[in-house]
Amino acid sequence: MRQPLVAGNWKMNGSAASIDTLMAGIKQGLAEVKQAAVAVCPPYVYIAKVADLAKGTKLAVGAQDINDQESGAHTGEVSGPMLKDVGCRYVIVGHSERRAIYGESDDDTARKFAAARKFGLTPILCVGELLEEREQGITEDVVNRQLDAVIKLEGIKAIGEAVIAYEPVWAIGTGKTASPQQAQDVHAFIRAKLAKLDKAVADKVQILYGGSVKGSNAVELFGMPDIDGGLIGGASLTADEFLAICRAPN
Ligand code: PGA
Repeated sequence: MRQPLVAGNWKMNGSAASIDTLMAGIKQGLAEVKQAAVAVCPPYVYIAKVADLAKGTKLAVGAQDINDQESGAHTGEVSGPMLKDVGCRYVIVGHSERRAIYGESDDDTARKFAAARKFGLTPILCVGELLEEREQGITEDVVNRQLDAVIKLEGIKAIGEAVIAYEPVWAIGTGKTASPQQAQDVHAFIRAKLAKLDKAVADKVQILYGGSVKGSNAVELFGMPDIDGGLIGGASLTADEFLAICRAPN
């Protein structure tokens, strides 16, 4: 049995004051979250603060990105050892916004995935197709290519120690959620692909769905056999909404 995971991706949102309010709200409702593991991924500058506020709770903390190097002359970048040092357990790699806005390739993503593992962090590897790719019927090819870059660099066993997030790009921040069946189809495809390489890895790895998940659609999505929770953007910025999603697997 895979434990569900609900991870909030706060993206570039929040302030010290709003995060105090959000964290107080989340902490207050955590006792009602029975099944899911829960994580939040704040902007870099607030990670230490959030890790401090999360101490003694079941809430884990993650980062939204990582540099693939350990240290050195990389102005503006943040390394794995630093993330570990300030209390991160997870790091998102290959989010579609990193790929689309900052030009990160499959190989860049694979190197970041490797760095996360090297420095003791669990990567949350994002994969997913653009709307035109879905319309062309090449969703599986895209997801295949994105996964293969990581498997080529790190091997299939590494996938078993990571989390995968399937996020159709057309569903992110658009209010257009993939239907539970559309999501399940891709999740099942991913798991079957992994099973061909290593059945134990495929059975073990958590595959999250991301893209306009809300309290109102989480139960149906997370009820699908290959959907093991969610990566939540907009709805993770409101404690009540985020908690409703966290309680969906209850
Ligand atoms: P969304 O974002 O929930 O706002 O659609 C999901 C994500 O980008 O991880």
